[in-house]
Amino acid sequence: MDREQIICPCLDVTVGQIMDAYEEGATTIDAVKDLTGAGTICGACIDEIEDLLSELKG
Ligand code: FES
Repeated sequence: MDREQIICPCLDVTVGQIMDAYEEGATTIDAVKDLTGAGTICGACIDEIEDLLSELKG
């Protein structure tokens, strides 16, 4: 997975930022929203963030 890839174009949040947020304990979509802001504008990226979270959970 490319850490530099933008997952939330509204706020330019990258895959790497979501991964770091996950490492810091943001394991739910709401926690990721609080920590990174991703998903809080148009919501179009939420499915992708959820997919990424389930991948990280393994
Ligand atoms: S693309 Fe993430 S909130 Fe719009």
